[in-house]
Amino acid sequence: MVSRVIPVDPFDLVIFGGTGDLAQRKILPALFRRYCAGQWHDGVRIIAAARSEHDPDAFRAIVAQSLAEFAPEHAGQDDLRSGFLQSLDYVQLDAGADSGWDVLARKLTDDRIRAFYFSVGPSLFGPLAERIRQHGLATPQTRIVVEKPFGHDLKSARALNATLAAYFDESQIYRIDHYLGKETVQNLMAVRFGNMLFEPLWNSQYVDHIQITVAETVGVDGREEYYERAGAMRDMVQNHLMQLLCLIAMEPPAKFDSDAVRDEKLKVIRALDPVQPHHIVRGQYTGGPDGPGYREAVGNPRSTTESYVALRAHVSNWRWAGTPFYLRTGKRLVARSSVINVIFKDAPHSIFGAEAGRHANTLSIRLQPNEGITLKVTIKEPGQGGMRLIDVPLDMSFAEALGPENLDAPDAYERLVMDVIRGNQTLFMRGDEVEAAWAWTDPIIAGWQARGDVPKPYDSGSTGPGDAELLMKRDGRQWQGIKP
Ligand code: BG6
Repeated sequence: MVSRVIPVDPFDLVIFGGTGDLAQRKILPALFRRYCAGQWHDGVRIIAAARSEHDPDAFRAIVAQSLAEFAPEHAGQDDLRSGFLQSLDYVQLDAGADSGWDVLARKLTDDRIRAFYFSVGPSLFGPLAERIRQHGLATPQTRIVVEKPFGHDLKSARALNATLAAYFDESQIYRIDHYLGKETVQNLMAVRFGNMLFEPLWNSQYVDHIQITVAETVGVDGREEYYERAGAMRDMVQNHLMQLLCLIAMEPPAKFDSDAVRDEKLKVIRALDPVQPHHIVRGQYTGGPDGPGYREAVGNPRSTTESYVALRAHVSNWRWAGTPFYLRTGKRLVARSSVINVIFKDAPHSIFGAEAGRHANTLSIRLQPNEGITLKVTIKEPGQGGMRLIDVPLDMSFAEALGPENLDAPDAYERLVMDVIRGNQTLFMRGDEVEAAWAWTDPIIAGWQARGDVPKPYDSGSTGPGDAELLMKRDGRQWQGIKP
């Protein structure tokens, strides 16, 4: 049952910032894997454009090294590697000046799909969009791809949207949130809308609460400057966790098409209540045997940037009134684990008496690692006298159910870049969605600033600050463990 690869039409892809970290670590290895999978036949051109001076061969040598490091599974497949490298080209170009653009123009083919990937800081989005237009490089088949962070707050996101809208139609703009490209994130929609089993129970009458955890073991290494300005709220909650919340909370779209799905997600964001200050906990990691603390890492002994956030959110609509959504994310935690837990209510009446204890069904959707879905159900404890109840998992590990060979699904970047070529915007954020997410995030951050809030310290390698446990405890609930 190994999945069939449907080839895409020939395309030209220009990667601005093609020598940068993201291009070398993610975008080019993702393209290489798609090429190895047979996603396209010859004739595709991938042109890196950047300020530094390289001839195309020197650039190919750089990429060859990156492929060895970031796509090691194809080591030894020399024919594929050289076929891919041959499709690469390089143009020296300055986003803020006119040099190099005519060279780029001559390399592009008129009547094929054309994508411009802005793998550069947001300050260059406007100048790039303008020059693409000025130099006549935007055809009807042209798309642009922009990376996060999409703005720093609502005001800057609006300004960015307006700048891009001056040169491109919304249908040509692909804003990446790589969480939407993750296999299990899409599975969320399949589980919800492809089964009869869950949807009737998917509301506040049956769901007690929802937990969304994105725990990381990494720190901020190498991205100190960006992170110090962003913090976990802007870096993770405003986008990745918000998108997960949307997919859990949204109404069924009428069809699986980009505007239908994004309309529903937007309604969720707009239905979010402002977060009360006592419903949010910020944390910052301290040093330990594995490395320095956050403040040391960023070289700012007084930093008040949070590397951890836990909060309680409410979606104020008919479906979810009264069911809290608890979100948490942090760096340097005990394990890398992204999981969504849907905790159902207890049975309304226990016929087994107090001795049987309280039991609630939980549906766990594990995004990474070990993608899979577990449903915890209550059964009788075998062999015991009386009626003692225990919870056991109905476990569906995708690796076991489908066979490891079928788990070799494209990673997030592979899927998203191919969706750009196919012209499918479903897994990309629309401008109004991003703005709505900032409109919810901004007052939280403004509140911290106004109160001079200082994040609570937590030990590297822990589950986060103790106050995050209290947030739950006050509501008579507790976080599910962070397990690798
Ligand atoms: C990025 C954040 O968007 O997502 C990083 O900027 C974070 O800080 C990363 O580490 C997490 O992505 P993943 O795919 O490793 O869970």
